[in-house]
Amino acid sequence: MSAIAFQDYPDYESLSEAASEHLLTLVQCKPDAVICVATGATPLLTYQRFVDKVKAYGIDISGVTFVKLDEWVGLAPDNPATCEVFLQQHLLKPLGVAPERYIAFASDKADQHECNRVTRDIAARGGLDLCVLGIGKNGHLGLNEPDDWLEPGCHITSLDERTRMHDMLRAAGTSVEQGITLGLQDMLAAKDVLLLVAGEGKQQAFSAMKEGKVSTKVPASFLWLHPKTSCLYCTM
Ligand code: GLP
Repeated sequence: MSAIAFQDYPDYESLSEAASEHLLTLVQCKPDAVICVATGATPLLTYQRFVDKVKAYGIDISGVTFVKLDEWVGLAPDNPATCEVFLQQHLLKPLGVAPERYIAFASDKADQHECNRVTRDIAARGGLDLCVLGIGKNGHLGLNEPDDWLEPGCHITSLDERTRMHDMLRAAGTSVEQGITLGLQDMLAAKDVLLLVAGEGKQQAFSAMKEGKVSTKVPASFLWLHPKTSCLYCTM
């Protein structure tokens, strides 16, 4: 039996609706959940719907901890291209998440110390209950880039050309050469993984991942090693 449950949705809206329900169910069942969150165009509507529902139903999320999955290295924390600004704008501020309920790499002082601190902070909260992921056009997860070998834990990485062209960077007219990211080991240790696949240019990476063979050239394929991954995708 496949370790990844694939669910096909007719459009981005229905995918986002289902993904927001997944998040909502978790915070209702586990008020102290630790949730790792990706950024980018794919999860944007999921987060907006999640925020709307938390507010509409008056759900107390004060015990939930959010973890930033990855970050571009070398940008000021208030640079609009950062994952930090994205999460603050679309998730953390609308939900009123307290600073002590947020674990994140700093974009402007990424080093091994920062990797160790984030790893320690996640462990201190009991590990990740859910990891919300998107897939890169090159098959990456977080900023775990395709290569001959992969670094398992949290690390600093050189970005490949396709990732340097990411819309978050292009829209802000910024260029970046490195990223800091949770490693695949961290993602595979999450109790639950929600992989969202939508948008232009994902077909090739998604097809390679769906083959069911684990390859360092397709980091998303490592999710075949995870016991409980749900992959929600738009028909493409
Ligand atoms: C970037 C982000 C990742 C994200 C990926 C896909 O690398 N740092 O966290 O999952 O891009 O982004 P998008 O959803 O915009 O295609």
